Amino acid sequence: MTKQGMTPEQAANLSMAEQHEWFRRATSRRAMLRGGLVGAGTAIVGAAGLSGTASAAPLRSAASLLPTADRPTGSTVVPFGRHISFGADPTRQMSVAWQATNSVRNPFVRIGRSPRDLGEKLHADVRVLSTLASDTSPIDSVALVSPSTVEQYYLHASLNGLRPGETYYYTVGHDGWDPRANLAVVNSFTTAPSKRGPFTFTAFGDQGISYDAVATTHLIAGQHPAFHLHAGDVSYAEGTGHGLITDSYDPKVWDSFFQQVEAVAATVPWQVASGNHEMEPWYSADGNGGLAARFDFAGQQNTYYSFSYGNVGVITLDANDVSYEIPSGNGYTGGKQTAWLKQELAALRKRADIDFIVVQFHHCAYSTCSSHASEGGVRQYWTPLFDAYAVDLVINGHNHVYERTDPLKAGKVTAAAPSGATVTPATQGTTYVVAGGAGNSLYSFPAKDSYDGAVDDVSPIASFVNEPGQTKTAESVTWSRVRYTGYCLLAIDSAPAARGRTSKLTVRAIDGFGAEIDRVVLARTAK
Ligand SMILES: [Fe+2]
Ligand SMILES: [Fe+2]
Repeated sequence: MTKQGMTPEQAANLSMAEQHEWFRRATSRRAMLRGGLVGAGTAIVGAAGLSGTASAAPLRSAASLLPTADRPTGSTVVPFGRHISFGADPTRQMSVAWQATNSVRNPFVRIGRSPRDLGEKLHADVRVLSTLASDTSPIDSVALVSPSTVEQYYLHASLNGLRPGETYYYTVGHDGWDPRANLAVVNSFTTAPSKRGPFTFTAFGDQGISYDAVATTHLIAGQHPAFHLHAGDVSYAEGTGHGLITDSYDPKVWDSFFQQVEAVAATVPWQVASGNHEMEPWYSADGNGGLAARFDFAGQQNTYYSFSYGNVGVITLDANDVSYEIPSGNGYTGGKQTAWLKQELAALRKRADIDFIVVQFHHCAYSTCSSHASEGGVRQYWTPLFDAYAVDLVINGHNHVYERTDPLKAGKVTAAAPSGATVTPATQGTTYVVAGGAGNSLYSFPAKDSYDGAVDDVSPIASFVNEPGQTKTAESVTWSRVRYTGYCLLAIDSAPAARGRTSKLTVRAIDGFGAEIDRVVLARTAK
């Protein structure tokens, strides 16, 4: 067992890279004793994988290591878990990903302008995650005996040269299972338009697998979004969420996750942020090897990345890098991420076509939720940059509730913004939203809920900030404007205006039944 020879206390004293190295050595020793199979937690990531992923190897050399010879392949393996995301240029590129329960040969996408004309095969890469069952805590009560290794096959195809604002149809397959010869699932997606125009996008965090997660996931579809932001804590396969090699982990939870979201994620690009439950030390020194095998990051090679859609620039950050509360990933980019953030904010603000900047990441800059409250590392490294570049909207998860602040500059309220208010971020600063009610078990507030139709203003609220040494420093909060203890998602409508007129970003919070519980309009003069 992984847990033998390492206690959580010992693991907590190691960096992510040190944990991974310990695990790699321990499992390779054990594999030698066992006579040979590839060690547990091996990430075998294709060319599109993250740089820095340990144990990365081309599939060809990995294939001989994997005990797949006697597994069914070809026509008995049906693709599942389709999920798409933007490429670096959302007007022309899309990444299509899916899963197969076994090794497959020559996976491919067929794509066309009509569901009846799906074109030639476009090659897909395979990213394999191999995890020894004994290193996991399966949700099944009986641990796997044979096979002892959980192998997960993720297929990824990068589609390039698409036309802006165009709807495409696609289907996926592999040697022995051609969708042309089988009852095929055909999905569609639409690329970003090249011209400014109105659109909607959605967001939430802390989803997991539950009937509540099914409900919020399917509420996304009803908003007809151009894309969906996931603010982290995605599947909870890593059940403990401490980013430690001693945490409970069942990789197969991801299989259920992709099955759960497929009806939406196959059509709506999902842009995922890494939460504390995405740190998986088994696969790579940075803890991101698992996420990198399962998702794409808008054509970029890090769990912090950006893209733009119409008049909105979206930045996704990896807050594990700055967390004092759960410090196992703290500092893992060596300051690179924060330097990159500054450059991205400056570049987006210079662009004449971009009105609004939206930033998503997992740990909360500002929340009064009793469980995790606010993350001091985010305030130390990032909120000064949000102030400097007048970021319009920040979307967080981590606290399993809905909460919205008044607009803030340097942590101070600049204006009261009850539901229905209009905020001008250029002068009033940033609005911070927690949308962590996507489906995992809910948390609570120290103060009463206060939302549209049930306003109950409470100020100040006694809360805390997570600071170095995992200390919690008390703070008296006056910025908590809306609080709702329930399942939720965000639907955000962008209405761009002509130069000199007012572009609007309407942020709507929707509860788990589809009813609106909060609304704020962000207004900015179009350049
Ligand atoms: Fe969570
Ligand atoms: Fe979290």
